[in-house]
Amino acid sequence: MSVPVIDFSAFRNGTENERQELANRLVDEFKKHGATRLVNHRVIGDTIQKAYQWSEKFFQIPESEKEVIANIRDANPQRGYSYVGSEATSKANKRGEDGEFEICEDDDVAQDLEDVKEHFDYTRDGDPDFPTPWPSEASIPGFHNWMEGVFLPECQRLARDVLAAIELGLGLSEGTLTGCMESRVDELRIQRYPPLSTEKLKTGKIKRCHPHTDFGFITLLFQDATGGLEIEDRANGGWLPVVPTGAPTEVGVYISDTLVYKTNGHLKAAVHQVTAPVSLKDKEDGVLPERYTIALFAKADRHAHIGPLPQFVTTETPQHFPDLTALELHNKRVGQLYDARPGAAVPVVAKA
Ligand SMILES: [Fe+2]
Repeated sequence: MSVPVIDFSAFRNGTENERQELANRLVDEFKKHGATRLVNHRVIGDTIQKAYQWSEKFFQIPESEKEVIANIRDANPQRGYSYVGSEATSKANKRGEDGEFEICEDDDVAQDLEDVKEHFDYTRDGDPDFPTPWPSEASIPGFHNWMEGVFLPECQRLARDVLAAIELGLGLSEGTLTGCMESRVDELRIQRYPPLSTEKLKTGKIKRCHPHTDFGFITLLFQDATGGLEIEDRANGGWLPVVPTGAPTEVGVYISDTLVYKTNGHLKAAVHQVTAPVSLKDKEDGVLPERYTIALFAKADRHAHIGPLPQFVTTETPQHFPDLTALELHNKRVGQLYDARPGAAVPVVAKA
């Protein structure tokens, strides 16, 4: 069993019945593991390949340039370059008493585990509250214009389609979820996982990415052919590898925390991690090859209240999540990655 690959074309071109069937199928899949994969959507393969090419170029710019645009490790939305070891996803979630992964609380003792990845996070339209520090035009000409002006809006339109399909599949009126979206808060992340020895993985303290859930409504994830992404198998325990099929438009969709709040847990977030690809699982002295991914974190407007919608709160399912604003939840979650609570002083951590 793995994460299915669903043809999404009917959502734009199908009849009303076909759209409804597709929406129902999507929601059914999300109820299993919080994830699915799509092909034949609005972002074409050439565009995705071009984004990978820009990503490779970005990670080759000199370290001194990257330092100038480094993300500030505080509880605010992430912007700019994050070096290997900067973000600690193991601090964001824990396994609760019922065995389910849940969001950490302030008094939880954080695990001290290391992620081996570097990334660049940006948004669009010169977000005045949390602006992106871009690399200079001289160091990577054309990167800023294309990534912000072409690629990000394409991904955002796809995210809006997917959230509209989720509304339909959940029986919500149009705009219930998509009406909370705000184009300036969505974040695009390009990410590189450097080569990593299986020997280091076996220590148990290091992974490419430790188990966690994402923070927005949904995440769209493009991954290269390397593999290693896994999602929690809720039915049988353990992990399901999300092995890339090689389809040029394949994109993963992962339910994230904001949608869990909004649906009062009716939809649960996909717990995911990145470790060794299947072919290297049992290798004693192997080396995981370099890996690239691109993620769109599609979010609710910062001021939107994300407490459960009334239709999901009943006597059998009382309100389980507080009515935070999207920014309050987001800052709590980002702060966990850096041991930085909202409003607290930023801890000083040496660069890895
Ligand atoms: Fe993630």
